[in-house]
Order: sequence, then C-alpha cells, then structure tokens
Amino acid sequence: MRRKLAAGNWKMNGESTALGELEKLATAHSAPGVDILICPPATLLHRAAQTVSDSAIAIGGQDCHPAQSGAHTGDISADMLLDAGATAVIVGHSERRENHDEGDEHVRAKARAAIDAGLLAIICVGESLAEREAANTLDIIAGQLAGSIPDIVTGENLVIAYEPIWAIGTGKVPTLEQIGEVHDFIRARLERRFGTGVGRSVRLLYGGSVKPGNAADIFAVSNVDGALVGGASLKAGDFSPIIQALE
Ligand code: G3P
Repeated sequence: MRRKLAAGNWKMNGESTALGELEKLATAHSAPGVDILICPPATLLHRAAQTVSDSAIAIGGQDCHPAQSGAHTGDISADMLLDAGATAVIVGHSERRENHDEGDEHVRAKARAAIDAGLLAIICVGESLAEREAANTLDIIAGQLAGSIPDIVTGENLVIAYEPIWAIGTGKVPTLEQIGEVHDFIRARLERRFGTGVGRSVRLLYGGSVKPGNAADIFAVSNVDGALVGGASLKAGDFSPIIQALE
C-alpha cells in the first residue's frame, strides 16, 4: 500500500514571515493520515526544518547539484540539504529544465546524488502544450522517465511527479482521463524497468494547478498517490483542504 503524499513546492516565494504558515500547517495536521512535505526556498530550509521539527511535516529542497561539493558557485549539494534538515528534494522540475537548460542526463545525476545522500528524490516529468497537441505526450514522458531515473531506485527513495507544463500556474488542468492515462503509463513503465515490486511501490504525484476545489477529483484517479502543489501550498488555508482531500 503506497502512503499518500501531499507535497508543496514554494518555488521562489517566501521570506521569514512564511514560517508562520508552516506553524499553522503543523498545528492543523498534528497526526496526518498522509505524508506532508514542504519544499521552501533554500534560504528558509534550515529554519523551516526547525519550525516543524516536532511535527509530522517534512522539509525538502527544490533542487540539488550532482556533485557532493566543489567549485559550483550558487549551487547546493544533496548533503547540504540533508545537513539543513531536509529529507527530500525535487529534481528535474520543468522550470529548472527550462530556465537552467537541464536535460535528462543531468537530472538523473542529481537524482542519483540525492539518493546517495539519503534523500527522497522527487523527479518531475511533463509535456509542453505543443507536445500534447502533437499527440506526443506519452513519448515525451517515456523519454524523460528513461533518461532521468537512475538505476538505484526503490519505492522508498523515489517519487515521480507528473506536471504537464501547460497546467503549471495557469489554472488549466488536464481532464481526469488525461491524468489517469499518463499515471497508468508511468506505472507501467516503472514496472517494466524495475519489476512489479519496485514499480508498484513508487508514489506518483500529479502537479499543475491543484486547488482545494479540484483536489478530491484528481486524487480519485487511478495511480495518483498525491500532489505536488505550487501556488496553493503557500498558504496553510489553501494547502490544508488539499491535504484533507487526500486523507
Ligand atoms: O511543482 C509544483 C508546480 O509546478 C505546480 O504549480 O502553482 O500550478 O500548483 P501550481
């Protein structure tokens, strides 16, 4: 049985005052029936981890460098995330892939570094609008899965987030059939490559304009084990109902 996961990606949002939202979340979900993860900006990681240290909420990074240390100005290693109190990290988010020109091989190296450090790696995949309109969605997903996932994964160290790029921050959401088709496809690919044991134990998240109003419907789709939420994770009042819809 896969434990559900409600993950929030704050992206480049949040200064000290945002820690108050974490306190509210921790209070509202003292004994959650699902895993809860918040990925704040790197500047808040350490304090965020301290803020939720006595709670059921976990803290994650939004990216890591493939190397353990070295001359990489501005980058953060997986070990540093761990040291700051993180237990997970997002890699291969489409905003990183696009803004920092990160390809599948690079994402795979990051995921490998994260897993080697003992972090849960959340690898993001997803198609652009042009790719969907050209009926290439499943080919694109297949390529990203094949190229971005290292060989060393298990159900404990890997989560896949399906985030159609055109649904991120737009208020547009794929139909439930479209979400189900891609999640079923990802599940089948994982089972084919890693065997049914691992393939069936990896959690699959949907991400892209998840809101309190659509969360329950999305969570009822087959092979959706939770969500990776952007905008609606910034305020406890928005994220709480999404967590509740998953419970
Ligand atoms: O990683 C989460 C994200 O890309 C989805 O963002 O704002 O559409 O929920 P949003």
